[in-house]
Amino acid sequence: MSHVAIIGTGRYLPEHIMTNDDLSELVDTSDEWIRTRTGIRERRVSTGISTSDLAYEAGKRAVVEAGLKPEDIDLIICTTITPDYFMPSCACIVQERIGAVNSAAFDLTAACTGMIYGMVTAEQFIKSGMYENVLVIGSETLSRILDWEDRSSCVLFGDGAGAVVMSKTDKGGVLLASRLEADGSKSNLLTCSAIPLQNPYVKSPSHFQPTEIEMQGMPKKDLYRLPKIEMIGQEVFKYAVRTITDNINNILKKAGLSIDDIAYIIPHQANQRIIEQASKFCKVPLERFYMNLDRYGNTSAASIGIALDELVATGELKQGDRLILVGFGGGMTSGSILLEWR
Ligand code: COA
Repeated sequence: MSHVAIIGTGRYLPEHIMTNDDLSELVDTSDEWIRTRTGIRERRVSTGISTSDLAYEAGKRAVVEAGLKPEDIDLIICTTITPDYFMPSCACIVQERIGAVNSAAFDLTAACTGMIYGMVTAEQFIKSGMYENVLVIGSETLSRILDWEDRSSCVLFGDGAGAVVMSKTDKGGVLLASRLEADGSKSNLLTCSAIPLQNPYVKSPSHFQPTEIEMQGMPKKDLYRLPKIEMIGQEVFKYAVRTITDNINNILKKAGLSIDDIAYIIPHQANQRIIEQASKFCKVPLERFYMNLDRYGNTSAASIGIALDELVATGELKQGDRLILVGFGGGMTSGSILLEWR
């Protein structure tokens, strides 16, 4: 029986680079603090390009790399916490722009674990026989929901998109095992509110009052607090280390493999210190963890797709190399996929 495999990858980043020094002009921080606490040196920030634009560019590249035509795609799953609209979905915008005329399309939200949730969802559609070729895109313009006055969070994130095409075949990045987890009891650790309930029976709740900056020049009817990322950083840090470690151990067990069988681990790119601690707990040399967070920061649902596409582009992946992709994020959510390159 054929497996489900990744047959093409793509990425797209906004051109504008925001360095740590640029950030130190906005908030009370320094290049030294950000580098030593996170490993991040710079990130890409949109100067106008939207989540669906990034998704379109990354998705288009993945379809070309897969050797497919847009009309061969049966389903597009976009995963994002920063869509351009509640409706239409980012996936529908991409479907029209790439010309995937035979494709169904929907968005999926699992915060920074979005790419793993999206790929595991695609795997199930392909395994069931419902679809042959699925395009999964993680795309974010996190810059639109950052609190640019909060130095403890705005320095961590960036914008970008990564994509994969998955199909039923034994060639490419063949999925050997996958798993998903969620723990809603920790949902308060990482949040971003939506628009408040406002209708003839409910007035705007007080905690949605705007900040001074948001009030400037804004029409009165829009005077609620815009959605912003808020987090309890140290608790997220501990959760991340524990969940990366557990996911790696559990997926190895599920696949009947040991850590020595793994060539690369692509973790969600949140913080170098999180990855260093997880590498110690899992007893895996740090060199086996692929990292690009120094250049892009945390791009949430996009990070694993961007990193995988970069690793593929290096040409370093050899036949038989096994990889673990491991994500974690708001919700809290986590998940992992074990692949073999054939
Ligand atoms: N520049 C300078 N100082 C900063 C700063 C910044 N950008 N951000 C916070 N600080 C200050 C704090 O105000 C605090 O000052 P104080 O001691 O005077 O109160 C000090 O640095 C230490 O803050 P602390 O929160 O203890 O730092 P930390 O070592 O825990 O690092 C994070 C903070 C946010 C980098 C870290 O907790 C983290 O990475 N957490 C995970 C976040 C994450 O990955 N989220 C997304 C997951 S998908």
